[in-house]
Amino acid sequence: MGKAIAIDGPSASGKSSVSKGVAAALGFIYVDSGALYRGVTWQAIRKGVDTKDAAAVLESMLNAEWDFFVQEGASVFSIDGEVPVQELREKDVREAVADVAALPEVRKFVVENLQALENFGSVVMEGRDIGTVVFPESPYKFYLDADPEERAMRRYRELVAAGEDEKAHEVMESLKKRDQIDATRKADPLVVAPGAQVIDSTAMNLEEVIQAVINAVKEDV
Ligand code: CDP
Ligand code: CDP
Repeated sequence: MGKAIAIDGPSASGKSSVSKGVAAALGFIYVDSGALYRGVTWQAIRKGVDTKDAAAVLESMLNAEWDFFVQEGASVFSIDGEVPVQELREKDVREAVADVAALPEVRKFVVENLQALENFGSVVMEGRDIGTVVFPESPYKFYLDADPEERAMRRYRELVAAGEDEKAHEVMESLKKRDQIDATRKADPLVVAPGAQVIDSTAMNLEEVIQAVINAVKEDV
């Protein structure tokens, strides 16, 4: 069984960039847990399911064939033989995912699949509940944070670079709404895991955050 480094935090706190950097430096497998919640959401949408209809979402999730594998140092999954990547970042998925991720049965399915990834080797896993629910026993837990204005600005810059016609205030609204759903939902809300090291990256660049995580774990790995 491999080791697990858990990286949690709100949207645009730097989880995926930091996790990828740490995984590359340590030779661990990078796992984006949010991609699985997005995958469940994408599958429902492409099956024409109303994402507010919990029973129908569950049915589309359970009827699909899910496969997991490792590609270029990252965990990847296919749904009914297709590997969605760009599709997972699209607006319809982005807007429905927090509601889908609030369904306890969806969380159970995703958590079990995430835990099984340790069989592939040591992982750096990013998400909202990795330190609290997926790998609560891990000695390596981090909670990344940054001011909401800074996080919204980071997301906005990314969307503009990707050619999306988004307005800064709309990105801010959408981020705050998702933060609110993630932090207040009944099933596994986003909280700082007991024993997690909190890193506020508002005034830190990416390299500094990656180094802070590596320094905290490197004696053991
Ligand atoms: O990249 P960003 O932080 O915007 O989102 P993400 O990590 O792709 O996660 C998308 C959504 O999935 C989040 O807003 C959460 O609602 C949900 N999620 C979760 O509930 N638990 C996780 N471990 C990861 C994501
Ligand atoms: O995964 P999460 O949504 O938490 O954040 P991310 O996608 O890793 O980071 C969002 C954006 O912020 C990316 O474009 C990063 O390059 C940037 N970032 C930054 O400017 N400074 C940091 N300390 C961390 C991330």
